Amino acid sequence: MEQHPEQFSECVRLEMRKHIHQTYSKNGYDYYEIAYEYLDLNPYDDVLDIGCGMGEFIFKIRNKGHMGRLIGVDRSSDVVERARSVADKREIGADFRIGSAEHLDFPASSFNCVTALHVITNTDPRKVLSEAGRVLKAGGRVVIATNSRMSYPILQELKEKARERFGWFYSTEWTEGFETEIANEVLRLYFSSVEEFRFEDALEYPDAEVLVDLFRSNRGLWGKDITVAEWDRIVDWVREQAIELIPEHGYAEDPRNFSIFRCAKPLGL
Ligand SMILES: C[S@@+](CC[C@H](N)C(=O)[O-])C[C@H]1O[C@@H](n2cnc3c(N)ncnc32)[C@H](O)[C@@H]1O
Repeated sequence: MEQHPEQFSECVRLEMRKHIHQTYSKNGYDYYEIAYEYLDLNPYDDVLDIGCGMGEFIFKIRNKGHMGRLIGVDRSSDVVERARSVADKREIGADFRIGSAEHLDFPASSFNCVTALHVITNTDPRKVLSEAGRVLKAGGRVVIATNSRMSYPILQELKEKARERFGWFYSTEWTEGFETEIANEVLRLYFSSVEEFRFEDALEYPDAEVLVDLFRSNRGLWGKDITVAEWDRIVDWVREQAIELIPEHGYAEDPRNFSIFRCAKPLGL
């Protein structure tokens, strides 16, 4: 039986999502570029990127000529290995480590800046924010990106239908969430100042298959013990639903709103 690459590889899933967003975003916002601007780095600042994925944001910072220490942490060994190999190949000075956002393995006050881009929703937000505050130096900055709860209504409807139909597969890792609707309030518990910058965008699906691919790229949210055959069955069923939502030669727009938060740790604490 054919094995689906998204079944086992976090890198493949991230690449699928990235490709879909780059190709079909209505407004084409580059959240790495926006986050970089809001970070407002000094040239020798030490930066920690929590949930760094394949290291793209860290690479962007280095490519801008940044000279401080750059460290990325991610719980997935798959993405950390990829980030390390890209850094080696391109001779980019950056350190990538496997680790949990909820327990950062660094002494207090280690970094001038901490970032977490589209990560916190799938974690224990309070633990992660408390850890981010601990490893941050006094006067340091945190930049966080997260989506609105109202994002991707079409995809959410598909996921919910699939959950109802194949409920036992649904991951138990889901947390209380950290969407824009609550993030501001939660962040104020941990940081002295919180600024929010809002962006409105949408995915424009040219056909049902793009929506099916987006669903497949969310494979990580489902239980790990699904066999390839079971995943096939879910994807086939999802395709039927997607075709109803987006008929052939049809088109659908799935709104996606996100915010970038910039927070600060007060001087002298
Ligand atoms: C949506 S991706 C975003 C990756 C990267 N920040 C970016 O914007 O390209 C989320 C990443 O967070 C990582 N992640 C999720 N929960 C985590 C946790 N509790 N600790 C560390 N990493 C985590 C995942 O492995 C994944 O690489």
